[in-house]
Amino acid sequence: MSAAETHILTQARIWTGLGPDLSPGAIVIEGGEIAWVGHVSELPDRWIEAPRQGVSGRLITPALIDCHTHLVHAGHRAREFEMRLKGASYADIARAGGGILSTVAATRAASEDELVEAALPRLDALLAEGVGVVEIKSGYGLDIETELKMLRAAGRLQTLRPVRVRTSFLGAHAIPPEYKYNSAAYIKEMVIPALRAAHEEGLVDAVDGFVESIAFSANEMEEVFNLALTLGLPAKIHAEQLSWQGGTAMAARHGAMSADHLEYADENDVKAMAEAGMTAVLLPGAFYFLRETKLPPIKALREFGVPIALATDCNPGSSPLTSLLLAMNMSCTLFQLTVEEALRGVTINAAKALNLSDCGVIAPGYRADLAVWDVESPAELCYRVGFNPLHQRYFGGRPC
Ligand code: NIG
Ligand code: FE
Repeated sequence: MSAAETHILTQARIWTGLGPDLSPGAIVIEGGEIAWVGHVSELPDRWIEAPRQGVSGRLITPALIDCHTHLVHAGHRAREFEMRLKGASYADIARAGGGILSTVAATRAASEDELVEAALPRLDALLAEGVGVVEIKSGYGLDIETELKMLRAAGRLQTLRPVRVRTSFLGAHAIPPEYKYNSAAYIKEMVIPALRAAHEEGLVDAVDGFVESIAFSANEMEEVFNLALTLGLPAKIHAEQLSWQGGTAMAARHGAMSADHLEYADENDVKAMAEAGMTAVLLPGAFYFLRETKLPPIKALREFGVPIALATDCNPGSSPLTSLLLAMNMSCTLFQLTVEEALRGVTINAAKALNLSDCGVIAPGYRADLAVWDVESPAELCYRVGFNPLHQRYFGGRPC
């Protein structure tokens, strides 16, 4: 089927993200975009003759969006997993030079091709569950050359698979051994020039950072966000994951798109996010895998109307998770999100978290990135654990 061709998916239950489900519903796809969506009985005359494909009452949602991943990296950290099972904490391991830094060593040693090869199976696992957009961060290089290599590898993935990749520069992820105890110099000599170089090469869509006791302070991060503003790049942040550090409020002051993790965020942080129009990205995989007990401020997020997105946080240390469906299930079981919230979290709100305005809902003018599910209701997507009911994914109107 060529991208310009018109075709209609019909006899579906459609969760549009914008209103009540349509059933039986139809979607007209034209030129890779959604031209019309509505009740089958209201299909406009001009499309009556167009080719149709019935989906037998299956559920259609927007293709899912994984808005926070560290998909490109080398190696794994199964050994640290075992250490944590024996009582070591994630922060202990990081302070002892393991954690992020052990992945940095492996990623520095890998070629760009090897990074692509290693990331593809993880990407394929996401796509098999209906994902159409994946955000991928750098941050396991911590030197200019490797940060750029990671971003190039991330960009190449979308030439190898039908998916859209959004890249985030995460030079301020950890302090590498060569700058131990000298984070200020690291920011000045590596992060700032690496961001400039990556931006010049057109490799960056957003700027991220890790504000935490084992990483950077909010003040240090501010310098990086100031450069992001100058370059016209949107900001986002890993904040209040293991302790309260004020990263969320600082990000809000800089007009960031999202603050992610947020277990230790308080009501003032949530207010600041609401005022700044930010999205909260919750990462139940990391919460689960690190066996956290402090819940993110869900009630306040609801009260202040902060959109909640969900992501896998796929990374080798705190969330080796390649299932967005499982993240949805965990958001319900661990954070008590409703089914509707979980689904919005991986569609419309995930698009918001990435400043994308052409995907995440089913409406005229949006990309025809769709997921057809062999389920009767949205609740079934969240309810099963470890089962993939995807029937067909559409990317830019094409089945894939
Ligand atoms: O999102 N919080 C910081 N970064 C990652 C963990 C990275 C790692 O442990 O390799 C996260 O949880
Ligand atoms: Fe992360």
